[in-house]
Amino acid sequence: MDHSEALSVNPTAGRAERRLSAIIERRLDRRGFIGGVSALAAATALGGCASGTAASRPARKSAAPGVAFEEIARGMDETHHVAADHIADVLIRWGDPLFNDSPAFDPYNQSAAAQRRQFGYNNDFIGLVPLSENRALMCVNHEYTTTTLMLPDVAATYPDSMTRERCDIELAAHGGTIVEIERTGETWRPVAGSRYNRRITADTTPMEMSGPAAGHPRLRTSEDATGRLVSGTMNNCAGGITPWGTYLMAEENFNGCFLGDLPEGHPEAANHARYGVPGGWYQWGRHYDRYDVSKEPHEPNRFGWVVEVDPMDPDSTPKKRTALGRFKHEGAESVVAPDGRLVVYMGDDQRFDYLYKFVSEGRVDTENRAANRDLLDAGTLYVAKFHDDGTLDWMPLVHGRGPLTDANGLDSQAEVLIETRRAADLLGATPMDRPEDVEPDPDTGRVWVMLTNNSRRTEDQVNTANPRAENLFGHIIQIDEPDGDFAATRSRWDFLVKCGDPDVAAIGATWNPLTSENGWFAAPDNCAVDPLGGLWIATDGNQRTGATDGLWAMETDGPARGTGRAFFRVPIGAELCGPRFTQDGETLFVAVQHPGDSDGATFENPGTRWPDFGPRTPPRPAVMAIRKRGGGRVGRA
Ligand code: FEO
Ligand code: CA
Ligand code: CA
Ligand code: CA
Repeated sequence: MDHSEALSVNPTAGRAERRLSAIIERRLDRRGFIGGVSALAAATALGGCASGTAASRPARKSAAPGVAFEEIARGMDETHHVAADHIADVLIRWGDPLFNDSPAFDPYNQSAAAQRRQFGYNNDFIGLVPLSENRALMCVNHEYTTTTLMLPDVAATYPDSMTRERCDIELAAHGGTIVEIERTGETWRPVAGSRYNRRITADTTPMEMSGPAAGHPRLRTSEDATGRLVSGTMNNCAGGITPWGTYLMAEENFNGCFLGDLPEGHPEAANHARYGVPGGWYQWGRHYDRYDVSKEPHEPNRFGWVVEVDPMDPDSTPKKRTALGRFKHEGAESVVAPDGRLVVYMGDDQRFDYLYKFVSEGRVDTENRAANRDLLDAGTLYVAKFHDDGTLDWMPLVHGRGPLTDANGLDSQAEVLIETRRAADLLGATPMDRPEDVEPDPDTGRVWVMLTNNSRRTEDQVNTANPRAENLFGHIIQIDEPDGDFAATRSRWDFLVKCGDPDVAAIGATWNPLTSENGWFAAPDNCAVDPLGGLWIATDGNQRTGATDGLWAMETDGPARGTGRAFFRVPIGAELCGPRFTQDGETLFVAVQHPGDSDGATFENPGTRWPDFGPRTPPRPAVMAIRKRGGGRVGRA
């Protein structure tokens, strides 16, 4: 396939985007940030320095120029490594204070009360909402807790050592953090005590269910007879920032939080089985009925959604937007279609599960932020079916259409959404190799799909978009939305790369031969498009190739397409999450998740004590800020 032909889209065709461009030219300074606090509403409406609209980036006439940095070497040791001429600073770590009254981090005397006032565990997604040139709200997900690495005196007697108090610490360490950050010179710092700072937890943050499934009897529990109120969010993996500056938290492996057996013949049995409920990863169900499906069989139906949070208002009630479906949401990156509708791309991270997008019914209002408040409550959820001829169809999950009817046990759109996976099964969606981050590039109409791996696919289960059996190393797919119309229902697709060691023919990797011995990787997970259109891939599982996870730049155009280049790597046991560039491209934030979680690691004997390296300090998941020495765009000349 000739990509220069396939990619010739018109990125500025949309009226809404042109309108956004005009607004931004009026309001943004040269570096693309709003120039004053009084323009806050505009800053958030315009999508900030994170994901967002085409107009929120510098114009690009052609594909991205090549990156320019000296690659780091593959390897595995106790600390992080970044490309030459770059500096990687720890910005904020597990246990760091967020409020004026936050207790000091004391890993030997942890409590839920302290954790609710501190940065949580296992940082994943990073989103940015700018306040000014040098200030932003950073939105970070805390995906999960690595129990025996995080808590002292637990490993040897787990799970019986999981008292209620210890479970409460875990619940408090899940969720998210909103923290103001500020740059002085070359250094970003968190602003402890900022009025915006907020902890969102798995158990103490009240949330509303909204959209078509809200109030459905299958969402009702003994704590909530309305099916509209739920405390907390958990297993928040990646996410997104909407063009109006709200923070989307994707609930992923919620199944792991439940214990117990359903009563014999319970009507939720097949539904829970489809989602792997109960997973039994945590012991919370020993102490709380809501995490025990024998007592609260509907509680799992209240998780697996996308949660929308307004970071500008720390007292606001987060909303679980049921119109976006219920599955193991990896992320929720969004983009404005040419006609002004919002499109949210989402992967369901499970072997043989699916790729989705949501298209809002209403249009994004660029002048009035409040008008977008409930935009995510109405629209159409689509699931992808890939064809051999390089096309794919986005099939609508709409009650009453095709097999999505009472005859198949789906009484309403609410049930189509509660059982999104089964509805997509009925439509014959393409089973994928674990869809992780899905990243639209507003300037090109391209969408990058990370498929991390699928060790269980057999030869008779391969399909056109997932062609390798026992796919240990993953692959990346490029989708081209026609003429940049992200709301389109028929698109084109091709592979960018099939990952793994190019020197082992049996693996079938497809790197560009320009790729160095350090430039190839396995298990793509999160990704980011930088302000010049460069694609950056973070991995989760590269250690199976003998080197730690990290961040690679990927060439996507011209003769170098399919070339990887190693930029950063994490300490042993960690994966890399949340790559996020500021809009000026001069800072790259990355989330180092579960450092020290190597084979057999415990609190007492971790794989590393990064980043503090105190003789008794545990490893601490942390967000880092990477800048180029002396300034300039990260990773470029
Ligand atoms: Fe939480 Fe799919 O990674
Ligand atoms: Ca992920
Ligand atoms: Ca991303
Ligand atoms: Ca991951």
